[in-house]
Amino acid sequence: MSITIVGSQLGDEGKGRIVDIFCDEADIVVRYQGGDNAGHTVVIGDEKYQLSLVPSGAISGKIGILGNGCVVNPKTLFDEIDGLRKRGIDPKVYVSQRAHIIFPFHKIVDNLEEVAKKEMKLDAGTTGRGIGPTYEDKAGRRGIRVGDLLDEELFLEKLEYLVQKRSKIASDVFGSVVDEAFDVEAIYREYCAYGKRIKNEDMAIVAGEFITKEIKSGAKVIFEGAQGTSLDIDHGIYPHVTSSNSSSGYAATGSGVSPRIIGNGEIIGIVKAYLSRVGTGPLPTELEGEFADDLRERGGEYGTVTGRPRRVGWLDMPMLRHAARVNGFTGIVINHIDVLAGMGDIKVAESYEFRGESIRTLPPTTELWGECQAEYITFPGWPECDWRDIAENGYEALPKTAQDYMDYVAKEVDADIIAVGVGPSRSETVLRRRPFNW
Ligand code: GDP
Ligand code: IMO
Ligand code: MG
Repeated sequence: MSITIVGSQLGDEGKGRIVDIFCDEADIVVRYQGGDNAGHTVVIGDEKYQLSLVPSGAISGKIGILGNGCVVNPKTLFDEIDGLRKRGIDPKVYVSQRAHIIFPFHKIVDNLEEVAKKEMKLDAGTTGRGIGPTYEDKAGRRGIRVGDLLDEELFLEKLEYLVQKRSKIASDVFGSVVDEAFDVEAIYREYCAYGKRIKNEDMAIVAGEFITKEIKSGAKVIFEGAQGTSLDIDHGIYPHVTSSNSSSGYAATGSGVSPRIIGNGEIIGIVKAYLSRVGTGPLPTELEGEFADDLRERGGEYGTVTGRPRRVGWLDMPMLRHAARVNGFTGIVINHIDVLAGMGDIKVAESYEFRGESIRTLPPTTELWGECQAEYITFPGWPECDWRDIAENGYEALPKTAQDYMDYVAKEVDADIIAVGVGPSRSETVLRRRPFNW
């Protein structure tokens, strides 16, 4: 039995906190794409954990796996594991031998490319973690994988080729100085040490086989998506996207299990009650001015990874309908209902005005999306409440206006609401159905 958790908008919908809550009843949590561009927050009482690579189940002591579809920066991974150990949590993390490795030069090239594209407004506003260039090397069949780190001779051979290629791109294409980030010897030393630690701590596995075997023996598995559907490289607002498929189809490919496992389980779309966006590109429902500042402050809308203030906007139904189709949601979770409390009427883009017509889903290109004007409907807002009390008393205890808002969303995406976030912590969640029990 599996549950796949997917961001249905532009990332930061609160996926990590839902994985944390659901994994109470799970055995394994698998990340299937992305890398340390993700920032997943788990709040338990006064303790806050921000996880970039370690799957969110680690806080509950569940096994975490980074699947083949992930790109892994070993330094971030070990820093994160060590940081958790210092806080008294000893995460058990396995890494697929097929996952690709991020090197220091990937980060350099990531930033060089962003600067080069800025003038044409084609930059994505990346997290600068080297995600794109690492996936480029994967697709270019010159990438280095976790399994390669375990064979030092082979690793050196592959590294020499890759560094030569990447140095040339940095100097000849971008006119950049090639510094220590491209120093084969230094990288080799550092990464051989990571390889040794991976070996010593028995972290490298054949993830697809491991997960499939566990599921066959009755294990409950959560597949934890990173980013969101509008950041998906195929289904998002290209080129202002990340370099992997964050949608549910990739949960199979990125972890090495059959699509039947994903399809036979639940696919839960995580929805933020409004929009937030850290990167570039059009945003038809974008809010500006004092109201936007207020919303940003109330929602703490600053990037988990970069600290950048997030852009904010009203809920965008064409975007959500698109996400529902691409992912096949069997249920949704709506987070951040508390953030909108006391802010007056709530607007929702029901459709777009596009070249004289009203359309209900996304146009095929980002340039066309940029032409779309939101057509709004308005819902009466709801007041501040004692959210913990509501969380204890269930969905019916939520203000009727908030229920109407959420019921509308659920109807439009044709999926039941299975939980509602009314605050960042575990106890501020209205759970309508127990995970794995519906
Ligand atoms: P993720 O990347 O999807 O895991 O989301 P992030 O952790 O990057 O961003 C979500 C932010 O909103 C975090 O600071 C969470 O603690 C917080 N959060 C999640 N759900 C809720 C909610 O229902 N209400 C409020 N106020 N904050 C929430
Ligand atoms: P989580 O998992 C929000 C955005 C970046 C940029 C684009 C490409 O926490 O929801 P990248 O560094 O991946 O090459 O950047 O994608 N982005 C995210 N935005 N949440 C994330 O992850 C993101 N990961 C990447 O801002 O626009
Ligand atoms: Mg995040």
